[in-house]
Amino acid sequence: MSVHQEIKRITVHVLQAMKARGEKITMLTGYDFSMARILDEAGVEVILVGDSASNVMAGHETTLPITLDQMIYHASSVVRAVKRALIVVDLPFGAYQGSSRVALESAIRIMKESGAHAVKMEGGAEIANSVKRILSAGIPVMGHLGLTPQSIYKFGTYKVRAKEEEEAEKLKQDAKLLEDLGCFAIVLEKIPAQLTKVVSESLIIPTIGIGAGVHADGQVLVTHDMLGITKDFQPRFLRRYAELFDEIKGAVAQYCADVKAVDFPNDTEQY
Ligand code: KIV
Repeated sequence: MSVHQEIKRITVHVLQAMKARGEKITMLTGYDFSMARILDEAGVEVILVGDSASNVMAGHETTLPITLDQMIYHASSVVRAVKRALIVVDLPFGAYQGSSRVALESAIRIMKESGAHAVKMEGGAEIANSVKRILSAGIPVMGHLGLTPQSIYKFGTYKVRAKEEEEAEKLKQDAKLLEDLGCFAIVLEKIPAQLTKVVSESLIIPTIGIGAGVHADGQVLVTHDMLGITKDFQPRFLRRYAELFDEIKGAVAQYCADVKAVDFPNDTEQY
């Protein structure tokens, strides 16, 4: 047997099989080569090149400013790092809402220029034509319902969505529609846990929750939030697994102190 174990890639079919056998799916965001390599080696099944790059990488207040070219840049950096995970890329605001033709062109650019495996789109019935057209080109689509940050100016706040019956009903119908159209999974963002349970049980395809409770078929977080690189964002749903802001700041301060004290580099650190 070869010493090099063959790495089995995660596909959309693997995710659906995981749901069928009740195994939870892990997804985290990735925007660059170095972090994507860590996520992949740690065993995360899906890396989402999220348009949250607009916030955590570029410092914008919302996800709206990021462009298709910038998403492709981030996605191609992630693709170069990853050997196992499925790589899903957000279609950014303005790249698919106007017409299904524009949507298809945007999705094709992402697939061709980055080498990623699938795209994600926010919305339900209102984007059905675009979803259908992208799927008909053979491009896997992940849906995204509930709090959809590209519509933040319509919602007005980042509060929990679909608490009222009417919005919950529309979300259930949209989820079914996305499954019927052929989406391979759906992100459910910031909705009541009980609604997530009902939706997840009604679908064959997996749901991936963020702030949507334990009943989703998988979970996603923004990597910079769960590692404590972002500091001020502290919603109830976020569990921090590290405090890297403080750790990195401490390391950098130590480096500065060592240079000032002529302690770095020492004899063994020079030629
Ligand atoms: O852009 C993003 O990071 C996302 C996740 C929050 C699901 O869409």
